[in-house]
Amino acid sequence: MSLAGFEASKTLDTVESNAQLLEARKAHFIPTAVHYYKEALHLVRAKGCYVYDEQGREYLDVIGGIVCISAGHNHPKIQQRMIEMIQNDEIQHTTTLYLNRHTTRLAEKLAGEAPTGIHKVAFTNSGSEANELALMVARHATGETMVMSLQHGYHGGTSGTLAHCGHHSWRFRSQPVSNVVSAIAPNCYRCPFKKDPANCHLECAKHVEETIQTTTHGKLAAFIAEPVMGVGGFITPPEEYFHLVADIVHRYGGKYISDEVQTGAGRCGQDFLLTKSLKIDADIITMAKGFGNGAAIGATIMRSEVAEPLTGKLYFNTFAGDPFQTMQALTTMEIIQEENLIENARTVGQYLKDGLLELQKRHPLIGDVRGRGLLVGVELVKNRETKEYATAETNQLMELMKERNVLIGKGGLFGNVVRLAPALTLTRAQADQLLAALDESLSVIEKAS
Ligand SMILES: Cc1ncc(COP(=O)(O)O)c(C=O)c1O
Repeated sequence: MSLAGFEASKTLDTVESNAQLLEARKAHFIPTAVHYYKEALHLVRAKGCYVYDEQGREYLDVIGGIVCISAGHNHPKIQQRMIEMIQNDEIQHTTTLYLNRHTTRLAEKLAGEAPTGIHKVAFTNSGSEANELALMVARHATGETMVMSLQHGYHGGTSGTLAHCGHHSWRFRSQPVSNVVSAIAPNCYRCPFKKDPANCHLECAKHVEETIQTTTHGKLAAFIAEPVMGVGGFITPPEEYFHLVADIVHRYGGKYISDEVQTGAGRCGQDFLLTKSLKIDADIITMAKGFGNGAAIGATIMRSEVAEPLTGKLYFNTFAGDPFQTMQALTTMEIIQEENLIENARTVGQYLKDGLLELQKRHPLIGDVRGRGLLVGVELVKNRETKEYATAETNQLMELMKERNVLIGKGGLFGNVVRLAPALTLTRAQADQLLAALDESLSVIEKAS
């Protein structure tokens, strides 16, 4: 199938077969480079919510790389500005040693979207770097070293951030892990304290204090957590959890780091930053992914009190804050406002969630539907009573959805949570297309079992 004039380019995209590319990958990529699907997909073009393979086949993209496309693929306004910058020979690389209007205006705009008091910005090239900086800043400001994170959390692929990774699969064998401690994840669907979420008194938040008291010298440098736990399978803790935990963290001298690498850029359908919507008393917020709509940019935003102790220090990151990336992030922020995309994420996100809850009524594989805005998780289980992880079924679902021209993501420690994070431009009709494909695919799996 080929739509919207996206024909495969015979000269570029099909000059090498996928088999040749795979062979070269196998020869030269390190073995951590896995690919989705039994038959690897070769995506070459994209527009809005759609991506196209080398044969011109169209897919509805409901995962956007991994949660990176907010304004839609190849938005014309971003394209136009990129073309203008290139045609005008605008400087592509400067570093923050020189003035640049895109970089400065982006910092200003981002600070304007952050909760009151959080307005000092540093740009990075990725979410991992944004979190590395946040951790260093918190340790520097407090003079303490211990950082607490959550089991099932994910904060990046660098050495420091992987020390806070709550998934064995991502951690390397001899990675040095020191001055880190983790608390139990606030997962209402699988409450680790065997409580009913309606009446649990947030045992999980109290556990944070107990962990500080029993595994540290009584002081923290920081606590880092995602407001919705992305890699963990879109685990969505209740708002109150964050209020209690921020209070505990501050009482023990630590800084609260809210990792909004996945939840930021309006994806959750409330404010541009979910930390603000949930009124989390954070000291530092990090972001990346959808912030640049696919451009390699991250940011660490912090309170003055946390930034001030850095006076006299140098933090230099060669490419961070470069004009091409910052222009793309700035334009993405403008598009999100102009096109009312946060409201769209809220309403279409709710429409999608309602549709999924309907599907849950007739598909026993669906154990839980959760998330915020257009960050929606569907946990698949073999049995609703035992909640046995439906890992193989999730893999099968991915293949069946691909056959139906829809690309979805997956996550969770056992790979049994479908992750839905399309562009914030998703329409109801596209949500219907996704729901219909899910309905059919789940029926195929259930019939066979
Ligand atoms: C919540 C969270 N933080 C940090 C990161 C790391 O970001 P990056 O891959 O851009 O380094 C990720 C990546 O998946 C993430 O999901």
